[in-house]
Amino acid sequence: MNLVKLIANLGYGSRKDVAWMFREGRITDADGEVLYADDQVEHARIRLDGEPLDPPHGLVLMLHKPLGVTCSRKDPGRVVYDLLPPRYRVREPALSTVGRLDRDTSGLLLLTDDGALLHRIISPKAEVAKVYEATLTQDLRGDEAALFASGTLLLESETTSLAPAVLEALGPRHARLTVTEGRYHQVRRMFAAAGNHVETLRRVAIGALTLGDLDPGAWRALDAGDVARIFAGA
Ligand code: URA
Repeated sequence: MNLVKLIANLGYGSRKDVAWMFREGRITDADGEVLYADDQVEHARIRLDGEPLDPPHGLVLMLHKPLGVTCSRKDPGRVVYDLLPPRYRVREPALSTVGRLDRDTSGLLLLTDDGALLHRIISPKAEVAKVYEATLTQDLRGDEAALFASGTLLLESETTSLAPAVLEALGPRHARLTVTEGRYHQVRRMFAAAGNHVETLRRVAIGALTLGDLDPGAWRALDAGDVARIFAGA
């Protein structure tokens, strides 16, 4: 791909802006040699103002989504893209959230510009585990694990029952729930179906990938090992 297009697609500026960057000698190789737009050079060796470029297409990020931000581009309030470098919002192909977490849910959120990977993670057929920890306003009754594991639970206004899910009680009002689907407000609606109410909700893992020591609001790019962990056990 022509280097102007490649760099513009990463969100560093319009093609016109990037053409100027070349004229100004701001784009070099790793040894500081000025590059021209028609040069053939590996992505990893390109520098803009001496800095390596953002990763190419195939980018996968994990973000520790804090409370109070939405998984949307258009919401007028705080959105997850505000937590990333501004150019990540305008990359082509677009960087999308892998499913959504509610505004009032925190935890592990993936973003990628790889549409095929996104579908592999969210497809219920892939059975990738999404692990949540919830605090509840009422004590667990004791029958929730069997209800959620049954494969017959029908959420209000839905016509197909939920796939079996695994509930582990962590305390009287504290539970870990592992689901393989991503229906609208699924975890909150599951506990509502069991006569309870979710007070706080956090996603702690997707497959075998966990938040690790990522603080709320922080993010990092995933490597191939991290991506493999998403599918471990699926
Ligand atoms: N289930 C919910 O209810 N909310 C989320 O954000 C994710 C799963």
